[in-house]
Amino acid sequence: MSIPNMVELTRREFLLVSTGAVAAIVVPKMAQASDSAETPSGQSIAKVSLTINGTSHALELDTRTTLLDALREHLHLTGTKKGCDQGQCGACTVLVNGRRINSCLTLAVMHEHDAITTIEGFGTPHHLHPMQAAFVKHDGFQCGYCTPGQICSAVAVLEEIEAGVPSHVSVDLCARPQTTTFEIRERMSGNICRCGAYSNIVEAVEEVVGSRA
Ligand code: FES
Ligand code: FES
Repeated sequence: MSIPNMVELTRREFLLVSTGAVAAIVVPKMAQASDSAETPSGQSIAKVSLTINGTSHALELDTRTTLLDALREHLHLTGTKKGCDQGQCGACTVLVNGRRINSCLTLAVMHEHDAITTIEGFGTPHHLHPMQAAFVKHDGFQCGYCTPGQICSAVAVLEEIEAGVPSHVSVDLCARPQTTTFEIRERMSGNICRCGAYSNIVEAVEEVVGSRA
């Protein structure tokens, strides 16, 4: 079969030839990509023991599993919410050794010896944690999706203030932090509420923080 002289090709013939050439290059590459996506190559499974709300859980996890997915998908502790899954909304906030973190931004295998507290670890329906009770009293939620993260964060704020940890708006870094609305808003600013229940959330946190002052 002779190669057609490009000079003699009509525009229609040129398009047919060039489309066929592109397809010959691209189709095998697409097939290759979908094959590799289905192949579990590079998957690494690790045994990890996580202590959640005082209970130890033995798990076998893909080492890429976030703490958030380990909680929700493997332990079915669905109180911790997935909002943005990229560290921007605070819905996934949990306490690790008493400090709040975004559980979507950390790998489960990094927390083998840590004490992890989720919203399920605070109070019970008949015996609420003071912060949970304050959220109910002040109507600090609407849909409730952000509320577990808000409450975990608020409990951490309580501890931070009691420990004298300053924030970005603290006037005197060496003095005991004040419990002003401005201060509470700054400390809770990593937790987004799409329903806009902010004023009631701040009232709830202020009440509990104020009662400890
Ligand atoms: Fe983790 Fe939004 S889900 S910060
Ligand atoms: Fe709905 Fe905060 S109560 S997102």
